[in-house]
Amino acid sequence: MDYLVKVEAVSRRFPLDHSYVSALDDASLRVSAGEFLAIAGPSGSGKSTLLNLMGCIDKPTSGRIVLDGQDTSALKPARLTALRREKIGFVFQTFNLIPVFTASENVEYPLLVQGVGASERGKRAAAALESVGLLSRAGQRPDLLSGGERQRVAVARAIVHRPALVLADEPTANLDTHNATQLIDLMRDLNRSLGLTFIFSTHDQRLLEHTPRIVRLCDGRVVEDTQRQEVSHG
Ligand SMILES: Nc1ncnc2c1ncn2[C@@H]1O[C@H](COP(=O)(O)OP(=O)(O)OP(=O)(O)O)[C@@H](O)[C@H]1O
Ligand SMILES: [Mg+2]
Repeated sequence: MDYLVKVEAVSRRFPLDHSYVSALDDASLRVSAGEFLAIAGPSGSGKSTLLNLMGCIDKPTSGRIVLDGQDTSALKPARLTALRREKIGFVFQTFNLIPVFTASENVEYPLLVQGVGASERGKRAAAALESVGLLSRAGQRPDLLSGGERQRVAVARAIVHRPALVLADEPTANLDTHNATQLIDLMRDLNRSLGLTFIFSTHDQRLLEHTPRIVRLCDGRVVEDTQRQEVSHG
């Protein structure tokens, strides 16, 4: 079986004064479809840089990223954008919902961009909202929802087009501990029930308890890649 994501000897340097910052340094990582994986590490260790590269938002300085069999470095910008829209769902630290849209309209947005018709959009948005337990709030605008609810709407938006990969960069950074734990548990449930692949970043050690695989970064390098046996709660 081939991997869903292959990060091969990837470095990303950003220019700084007359030198550069090495945000990611010779990182390699392979992720299979259906995995639930956390990228852990302190502030500045390269988590966002790595997620942005895997999400085709940014390009490596050297090395390559293969997404679902496609070498992304070989793609023209338009193809890369199309690949990103089709294959990837993003969840952001600050939710990034459109304030004048209802929850349902926010969730429908990626489908609108893909040219899906209105009735199909409505159906699929309702199913996505149901899967995060918020169907009853479909008609509400984000400002009437709690932080935890807003992030669940953002998760519904990230999965509505059935992406091969969901990337979440510190999705719990603006949530309290209770809501943070709930959000990670929700993503894990969706990973199990729908077979969706999730990669999320966090620097909160407490959120890693139920995470089967943890990749740890330090100073832009992968310093640990741990798989854990599932603990059965049967
Ligand atoms: N656009 C940029 N220009 C210059 N330096 C950058 C840029 N993006 C990231 N860096 C630097 O690269 C390093 C890694 O940054 P990155 O944002 O990936 O870390 P992080 O692990 O996500 O940190 P945090 O936990 O604070 O979000 C840092 O030293 C950062 O200052
Ligand atoms: Mg970051």
